[in-house]
Amino acid sequence: MACLRLLLAFSAIALAAGGACGFQFEEATVDSIHRGFKNGSLTSAALVRYYLGQIARLNPQLHAVIEVNPDALRDAARADAERASGHRRAAAGGLHGVPVLIKDLIATRDRLNTTAGSFALLGSVARRDAGVVARLRRAGAVVLGKSNLPEWGNFRNAAGLDGWSARGGQAMNPYVLEVDPCQASTGSAIAAAANMAAVTLGTETMASILCPASVNSVVGIKPTVGLTSRSGVIPFTLRQDTVGPLCRTVADAVHVLDAIVGYDALDAAATRAASKYIPTGGYKQFLKAGGLRGKRIGIPNGFFGFKNGTVKHRVCKQHIDTLRRHGATVIENLDIANLSVIQNITKSGFQAAAPAEFKFNLNNYLSNLSYSPVRSLAEIIAFNNAHPVEEKLKKYGQQLLLLSESTTGIGPRERAAIHQMNELSANGVEKLMKKHRLDAIFTPDSSIATVLAYNGLPGIEVPAGYDEKGVPFGICFGGLKGYEPRLIEMAYAFEQATKVRKPPMIKA
Ligand SMILES: *[C@@H]1O[C@H](CO)[C@@H](O)[C@H](O)[C@H]1NC(C)=O
Ligand SMILES: *[C@@H]1O[C@H](CO)[C@@H](O)[C@H](O)[C@H]1NC(C)=O
Ligand SMILES: *[C@@H]1O[C@H](CO)[C@@H](O)[C@H](O)[C@H]1NC(C)=O
Ligand SMILES: *[C@@H]1O[C@H](CO)[C@@H](O)[C@H](O)[C@H]1NC(C)=O
Ligand SMILES: *[C@@H]1O[C@H](CO)[C@@H](O)[C@H](O)[C@H]1NC(C)=O
Ligand SMILES: *[C@@H]1O[C@H](CO)[C@@H](O)[C@H](O)[C@H]1NC(C)=O
Repeated sequence: MACLRLLLAFSAIALAAGGACGFQFEEATVDSIHRGFKNGSLTSAALVRYYLGQIARLNPQLHAVIEVNPDALRDAARADAERASGHRRAAAGGLHGVPVLIKDLIATRDRLNTTAGSFALLGSVARRDAGVVARLRRAGAVVLGKSNLPEWGNFRNAAGLDGWSARGGQAMNPYVLEVDPCQASTGSAIAAAANMAAVTLGTETMASILCPASVNSVVGIKPTVGLTSRSGVIPFTLRQDTVGPLCRTVADAVHVLDAIVGYDALDAAATRAASKYIPTGGYKQFLKAGGLRGKRIGIPNGFFGFKNGTVKHRVCKQHIDTLRRHGATVIENLDIANLSVIQNITKSGFQAAAPAEFKFNLNNYLSNLSYSPVRSLAEIIAFNNAHPVEEKLKKYGQQLLLLSESTTGIGPRERAAIHQMNELSANGVEKLMKKHRLDAIFTPDSSIATVLAYNGLPGIEVPAGYDEKGVPFGICFGGLKGYEPRLIEMAYAFEQATKVRKPPMIKA
């Protein structure tokens, strides 16, 4: 009755919000979605219609989405039918019936293309869903579509592609349009920020989850490498690649993490090694408001160089006080050994190893497709040369693709570089954290991303503020391999204590 009155009074608003009675679509969380399913105010189909509407309205401006799944409504209806019939996997909750947007590096065996933003891979067909997508579908999640990214995830030109891809166009920051929305998982971050999907998946090699999460005011979890399968994911370097969620809340990101972690025979070595970190009962048990109590949190030097009087300077100080007030021991003035070497990808060895690793891994991915117009990096380069206008060759070039193509496998030079990166990580942040028995290191923005990258260490980015121009920034809790449980405790407690995120105001 109350619901009907409300609907009559605010029918225009209710219809704009998707038409379902009483359910608040904007800023919906996985938990509110479950409650909506349970009390009958929401169906998965209504949720999909809402996000398709948001995409239709906002994507012409934001370019966060490359493709929507033509079967999303059918899959949602199936989820609704399963729930109505009391199907076991609907009762399990999780991501059942929840629409997920997936980065265009992650293969799906359906009507969606998987192209890394390029025209070169348009029409290619994967043999099967990527490992993480297979898990999502088994849980009954609805694949909503594919998100935009800088073409080949920045691996085309040393200057980066600023969120541009030939197929997806120029991705824009939903808070401040002229600001670079940052690196490879940008479309997923934007879509989460602007309520164009319930939850999203991104991938990270170096900063590609943490950076767009920071700049678009969403939560990003970069899992320990191997916790989530990379099978069926267009690769850069399997030493560092990892798949993780970008969501509006820590709890949502943890729901996604629970759904995608685990062993995969097609990424056997890494997922087997990391499976020992997965806690019995999953990660949701670590969503504890008191999660900062008793934690030891390190503040490394070299990351907080903000000018006195700036918002970032003031807010970061406040946040460090917040950690203390909520029961954490904060240890300041810590030095990560060789930090300047680690942060310079020429000196660290990354530049020497990654191009050869990329070529090897990409050619392997391409050769495993059941159909593809291009079968090798060389053919991608030739494709770009044959389509210079569509691929904006003049503006972006393909310098890194050419550099990669010129490599001849993982030889002594590459092995030495990889060894050095592992040493830098071991002697740097890992030694520091062990010495001071730290549960996390705490840093602003995504500035810690290189430090976490070389040895596959995890990090969680949480919204932390908005600068003088309204540009969002996050903070990162970084840890050792397998530290997800305590990072989730800290990130969740921090989020609950600060509640910084606010949805963007977009004029569309
Ligand atoms: C059902 O649950 C949702 C989510 O918590 C809430 O927004 C809505 O008001 C509820 N509707 C009814 C009819 O109880
Ligand atoms: C995938 O690409 C083909 C062009 O090769 C296009 O016709 C099709 O609509 C695309 N799929 C989706 C879901 O957009
Ligand atoms: C790709 O194909 C090769 C050769 O068939 C196989 O050894 C490898 O496991 C496949 N990789 C993936 C990720 O499926
Ligand atoms: C900022 O102010 C503090 C004292 O308020 C001072 O110790 C510090 O040197 C100043 N830093 C900069 C970069 O100006
Ligand atoms: C990184 O190191 C290289 C090689 O020593 C040097 O040429 C370059 O200027 C350094 N880059 C930065 C940003 O310091
Ligand atoms: C890094 O720093 C430590 C201690 O300062 C040093 O022993 C080590 O050789 C350095 N280099 C590497 C690659 O770890």
